[in-house]
Amino acid sequence: MTLTIAIDGPAAAGKGTLARRLAAAYNLAYLDSGSLYRGTALSLLRSGLEPAEPAAVAAARGLKPELLADPEIRAEATGKLASQVAAIPAVRAALLDWQRGFAQHPPEGKRGAVLDGRDIGTVVLPDAMVKLFITASDEARAMRRFKELQAKGETAIYARVLEDMRERDARDTARSTAPMRPAEDALIIDTSAFDADQVFRQAKDHIDQIIIRT
Ligand code: CDP
Ligand code: CDP
Repeated sequence: MTLTIAIDGPAAAGKGTLARRLAAAYNLAYLDSGSLYRGTALSLLRSGLEPAEPAAVAAARGLKPELLADPEIRAEATGKLASQVAAIPAVRAALLDWQRGFAQHPPEGKRGAVLDGRDIGTVVLPDAMVKLFITASDEARAMRRFKELQAKGETAIYARVLEDMRERDARDTARSTAPMRPAEDALIIDTSAFDADQVFRQAKDHIDQIIIRT
């Protein structure tokens, strides 16, 4: 039986942290779908192009693996531009088949796949066996991102990080194509007061119950 896990939620909620731990625990391939939108944005930034068609669609179609490994995709400016390109329906369409293919054909030896993003449980993999929506208060999430920036040695202002994050979440929620929202059958976990271990245990209990029932 193939195990497919869809994880969605807003910025810095802890999606990637949980996805990596679940991938290790259940022997799954992991795809951070946000890296595809970030990679598309970085490609546009590097060529000095606006986040609009047709350049954005060409950038999405021509994504190179090297770009996804570039540390610059994690920059706040790239994240902001990523949420602009992510609102373009043709960009989302260009990335859809690739994401589905990743989930449907996990590498040899893997039991399945875990994908995280904004629309995995609602649009990319509506039939995923497990759906999780990971969230946390705006303040908790901004503090996590702020600490990450500090740890990287970057100068950051908490109030600015909070404002930018709210702006990005609002854009991701308000767009008409594949807006961020929990799937009806998703387990919602608010991680504001939980560390990564506690979140992992809650998710694992839920997944194990689904596996037993299936
Ligand atoms: O993938 P996403 O943007 O949702 O978040 P992440 O990169 O997994 O987590 C953002 C930051 O929050 C990281 O520095 C994690 O270590 C931290 N974190 C946390 O403090 N508590 C959790 N329950 C999960 C993550
Ligand atoms: O790590 P963080 O949660 O800050 O963001 P990310 O997951 O790397 O996603 C960056 C941006 O890509 C998001 O703000 C969304 O606009 C977009 N995105 C999306 O629209 N759909 C996805 N499945 C994943 C990301």
